[in-house]
Amino acid sequence: MIKRIRIIGIGMGSPGHVTGEAAEAIASVDVFLVADKGDRAADLLAARQGVVDAFVPDRSSYRFVQVSDPSRGPDAERDAAGYDRGVRDWHAARVDAYASVVEGLGDDEQTVGFLVWGDPAFYDSTIRVVDALVARWSAQGVHVEHDVLPGISAPQLLAARHRIPLNRIGAPVHVTTGRRLVDEYDPSLGDVVVMLDGGLACAGLVDLAPDLELFWGAYLGTPDELLVRGRLADVVDEVQRVRAEARERHGWVMDTYLLRAPEGTPTPAHAGPAFPPFPEVVSLSDGELTLRPMTAADWPVVLGEHNNDEQLRWGFTSDRLTEADARRSAAQAPRDWRRGRGARFVMVDAPTGEGAGLIGVLSLGPPGVALIGYGVLPEFRGRGFTTRALVLVTEWVFAQTGIARLELGHKVGNVASGRAAEKAGFTREGLHAARLVNPDGSRSDEYYWAKVRPT
Ligand SMILES: C[S@@+](CC[C@H](N)C(=O)[O-])C[C@H]1O[C@@H](n2cnc3c(N)ncnc32)[C@H](O)[C@@H]1O
Repeated sequence: MIKRIRIIGIGMGSPGHVTGEAAEAIASVDVFLVADKGDRAADLLAARQGVVDAFVPDRSSYRFVQVSDPSRGPDAERDAAGYDRGVRDWHAARVDAYASVVEGLGDDEQTVGFLVWGDPAFYDSTIRVVDALVARWSAQGVHVEHDVLPGISAPQLLAARHRIPLNRIGAPVHVTTGRRLVDEYDPSLGDVVVMLDGGLACAGLVDLAPDLELFWGAYLGTPDELLVRGRLADVVDEVQRVRAEARERHGWVMDTYLLRAPEGTPTPAHAGPAFPPFPEVVSLSDGELTLRPMTAADWPVVLGEHNNDEQLRWGFTSDRLTEADARRSAAQAPRDWRRGRGARFVMVDAPTGEGAGLIGVLSLGPPGVALIGYGVLPEFRGRGFTTRALVLVTEWVFAQTGIARLELGHKVGNVASGRAAEKAGFTREGLHAARLVNPDGSRSDEYYWAKVRPT
């Protein structure tokens, strides 16, 4: 009757990769469960047997039980949602398969072990499967303990073999799969470790980032280990060739690699077009109205500014913001400020200190150009806050930032918005036909205004 499950990382299948505590855990196991993964089953079982032999000479003190791995459809044909669903269904089928094996164990078989390739925390579903098993038994009133013993992972071994750290000083490391690499690659990710790559996806980055340094390793920690290092555009063909030959020899290949921007390349602070950060500011005030940078605590103003009839009437959709949306938006504001994407201020009624509305300067594509957006809460309308806020923001932008031109637009029918822009010294430059969508799906013409930094 099972009492305990031990999830034991065994590194790359070599006894030398097993930590002392993992070795002790191995010696405590009565039954090792091994997924039978078709073509690689024999190799994987032999590697696990070799590890156990190194720590438990008496083969009669435990047994291996192979559990047929449920089949999983072809990943390559699936979109992201289909892929996630496929993996979840597959996990559920695995849980069923393991449960039926464990429930048939003998009375003296109390400790079950999973020998996990590498480390259980890296792209391995054993912890999730065991969580589901433990929860299932707990619902039936049966308590089963479980623990996790770490092992050396493929990225750790890759770094060790190439004698490099995985990150540059103070910079991030991004660990991802071959499936996602090309879509998500961005220099701001820092160094990128790629696992589970069936087809050397980094070849798809050669045009975009030929100078990346590639540190590639296959069959790491085994006698067949292969290593290649070099500029991506220079070595990618060699890696393709070496990889294809190895796959031919072994029938399968397991490789991991690191992509690193060349030394001296600054790591951009964010993805997308680079804008200089907005300068820090405590507040801007004309005595009646104060503007201060938005923080996470300002979410009620974000909510109130959006969810009122006037705003919803002139907006693009009639969807109301949820509290969670407002919280997310307010919390994002300081990051956008630092990244130069937008400087969003809360309008504060100076005498009472109450939040009265929002005004934001959003960076646009052309350098030195920004778009202004604003909105006042219903209870503060009619006091000229929009005009005051536009004047304060415009003066600050032209004095403190490199922005030379501010633009704003509004639906032709939104007369109050145009009046505020005019009073704040903006010039109406034109009319954009049918540019702005209405909540009912029809489209409105837009008046477009601009103000240019005085020379
Ligand atoms: C299912 S994941 C398991 C990872 C494992 N838990 C770890 O900590 O490395 C399998 C992926 O790990 C990497 N990998 C595993 N063994 C490897 C080895 N010996 N050499 C290079 N990469 C390996 C490959 O990227 C492979 O696609």
